[in-house]
Amino acid sequence: MRALPWAILYLAATPAVIAPCPTDLPSFRDWHERTTRAFFASNLDDDILLETGATLRRCQPQLDAVPVARKCMSHFSSFFEATTRERLLGGHLLGASMPDEQYFSEMPYPEMLELPEALKDQQFLRWLDENDDASITSALGYIDGLNETIPDPRFEWIAFIYQSQHLPTPDGTRALGRFFVYVPHEDFDQYIQFGLQQDPAGELPRGVSVVAVQKTEAGTGLALETPRARLKDFWRKRDGERIEIGTRFEETGVVENCYRCHKQATLPITPDPRAFDEDRFGAKLRRVNARMASHGAIDLDGFTRSAYGPPMGPRTSPLRTPEFLAACSAGRVEPARLARLAEVMRCAGCHDGHQRGELNHPSGIQLQPQGETLVSFYVVNHQKMPLGATDLSVPEREALVKCLNAEYYQGFGGKPGLLEAWMRQEECWQASE
Ligand code: HEC
Ligand code: HEC
Repeated sequence: MRALPWAILYLAATPAVIAPCPTDLPSFRDWHERTTRAFFASNLDDDILLETGATLRRCQPQLDAVPVARKCMSHFSSFFEATTRERLLGGHLLGASMPDEQYFSEMPYPEMLELPEALKDQQFLRWLDENDDASITSALGYIDGLNETIPDPRFEWIAFIYQSQHLPTPDGTRALGRFFVYVPHEDFDQYIQFGLQQDPAGELPRGVSVVAVQKTEAGTGLALETPRARLKDFWRKRDGERIEIGTRFEETGVVENCYRCHKQATLPITPDPRAFDEDRFGAKLRRVNARMASHGAIDLDGFTRSAYGPPMGPRTSPLRTPEFLAACSAGRVEPARLARLAEVMRCAGCHDGHQRGELNHPSGIQLQPQGETLVSFYVVNHQKMPLGATDLSVPEREALVKCLNAEYYQGFGGKPGLLEAWMRQEECWQASE
């Protein structure tokens, strides 16, 4: 009995004939407008996203032949192209413009995406597997020993352990514990973390990841104006006594788009306070977070940051009226505090793409594996953001997150949200009339 409606739905949802490509200015403009409106009215429906990504790829020659349409749809095209790449373009699971194989194999400093030999030491890796107080102390002592051979303090490694509040390792073992090592070099810095076993009765975690920040130009050794980063997951393989390190991509064929969360390539670490040994590791943690912050905004190889939309929380916004603030904060904020709410919405004063990576799509809506979005974590749970704002109550913080999302994704009073307005490029179309 149930088969019939499903069959009809399926047929209805699968166009028998693929729609022809728009070919002239009016038909492109019409498609641009209709699709953008439908995408936001549907709350970013996944089918519309994928269909639009596919149509854009198919109709690229027609679009190239109409220069005004190409120009006035450049935001729209870049967004749908970039955000569907990982699912529509074979061999691009990372979502980068270059194929995954090339991302991992061709780069200015090939060592930047390799683990330092010293971290493949068998005894060291076994200590991490044992993961009791004594073996972790031995593993930390091993790093201290390495540091004694490094004469210049700028190149000393920094190691500590913490529990992530955000996400388990990507190996299905639910491991939240991390053995973190910061490894500075002249030309690049590596931020490396090994997953530590969560459940002593469960499986050993395999995940090891690195964020590598390239600081200088290969060949000349001159400082890059904007540093660049690549990210990679390794995979521990345990074969009897030996622990080999392969890559997650080669071992499983699975990887994902790191930029969906790593808007700033180096994300500050916010350990679970219940499990963090502040006396022992607090100073080290702060040094590492300060090093991460010292890079400023970082470009990600293979990613055009601006393709994921404008930054959330700009300094000024046409939407931020008293009516909007009252509506989006929905009773969480006293009327007298609404002006303050408008002030603290200016996240892009710092997250502007220059000082730090911009918080653009999907920072406000993508849930992390442990729940919550990147934005709500730092604003509500960690109460770290907006930096320096110490006067906000928890309901005000919740309202802040809601208002940022409403402003970015939903819009108000007939005005589109910031992401939609950016995508529509009305000024461009009007100027071309
Ligand atoms: C769901 C969001 C999310 C995704 C996707 C994600 N990360 Fe992260 N990652 C984080 C957060 C949040 C932190 C900060 C540490 C913490 O508090 O857990 C982090 C930290 C790290 C760190 C430690 C250095 C640093 O920046 O703090 C490494 C290394 C890392 N991630 C690698 C990766 C790699 C490689 C990928 C893609 C294959 C990836 N991550 C994808 C959320 C994510
Ligand atoms: C005065 C500058 C400033 C303002 C304003 C600010 N931030 Fe930040 N933000 C930072 C700095 C600096 C860090 C890194 C913190 C660290 O190293 O511990 C950061 C980190 C973050 C992160 C982690 C991802 C990343 O970029 O590292 C998120 C998410 C975040 N901020 C959200 C927000 C939101 C949402 C707002 C507005 C409500 C906001 N911030 C306003 C300076 C700022």
